[in-house]
Amino acid sequence: MTANVKPIVWTGDELHLLDQRLLPHEVSWVRCNDAPSVAEAIRSMVVRGAPAIGVCAAFGFALAARRGDALDQAADLLLGSRPTAVNLRWAVERMSRAGTDPETLVREAQQIFDEDVAANRRIGEFGQQLLADRTTVLTHCNAGALATAGYGTALGVVRAASEAGKKIAVFADETRPYLQGARLTAWELREDGIDVTLITDNMAGHFFQQRTFDAVIVGADRIAANGDTANKIGTYTVAVLARRHGVPFYVAAPISTFDPRCPTGADIPIEERSAREVVEIGNVRVAPEGVAVRHPAFDITPASLVTAFITERGVLRPPFGAAIRRVLILSE
Ligand code: MRU
Repeated sequence: MTANVKPIVWTGDELHLLDQRLLPHEVSWVRCNDAPSVAEAIRSMVVRGAPAIGVCAAFGFALAARRGDALDQAADLLLGSRPTAVNLRWAVERMSRAGTDPETLVREAQQIFDEDVAANRRIGEFGQQLLADRTTVLTHCNAGALATAGYGTALGVVRAASEAGKKIAVFADETRPYLQGARLTAWELREDGIDVTLITDNMAGHFFQQRTFDAVIVGADRIAANGDTANKIGTYTVAVLARRHGVPFYVAAPISTFDPRCPTGADIPIEERSAREVVEIGNVRVAPEGVAVRHPAFDITPASLVTAFITERGVLRPPFGAAIRRVLILSE
């Protein structure tokens, strides 16, 4: 089963991005032809999800080279678009190492795109072996085809298990405030005919008590050297519930999401987003004017709550520090 949803299309001279702000009501595309328009698409969340952000930044860099723009300025602009997903820095640094020739850079960006799809497929293959037939999986946010070059990480595992003939049901947290679960995960799984049930975030504890879930699978925006994991706000809560109820908690992510330069989760920058996304739901204000608001967009799940990391190089089990070091050395 390939994912029916393809969020990033390179036409040969432009980057076309499925506008994720409008889903599921409208399927429309944003065209980017330079680094500033790609950086703006990342900043405004036309495209989101750590691997997808990295792939787009790579094409943004290649577009800058084609236009003869200053590459160091393009790199700075792209790097400044969102702070938490390390795939962005990973991709820009890889592009910078590839030189300055425009066509070489376009090929490198295409390579990053292709490698991401291949990594997702391998993550899916390793991950599906952890799931029995007739499994119900809880996921948070959207770590699917929409968040990658295609296929998905957490949802890639679900897709691969379905391809292997297993009956998998997914529960999707709505993921307040941006509603990636309600808007994106529910939409993309339905596009593929995968069994999906939407719940609000505060229902998760109840369904854990009811023994509804056999496993939790989420994606990641950045994984520190010790395995502490940044992912969409609310992931930590789910991890605590999973531990309390003895349900395995898996993080599915490519090697490009591991950051050896962050020793622990405390070193990971957490994006603070606008109050508007909290006081409004779908552009309708629900909170009183003038109320104080906090909006961290990500939280840190300590490594001790993670059962295993599912990567394209296999499943990493504790102790994570050593397992992560090994897999990063192998990938150099
Ligand atoms: O703010 P977002 O929508 O970019 O956050 C996305 C997530 O938190 C995903 O779970 C993560 O990037 C992994 S995507 C494969």
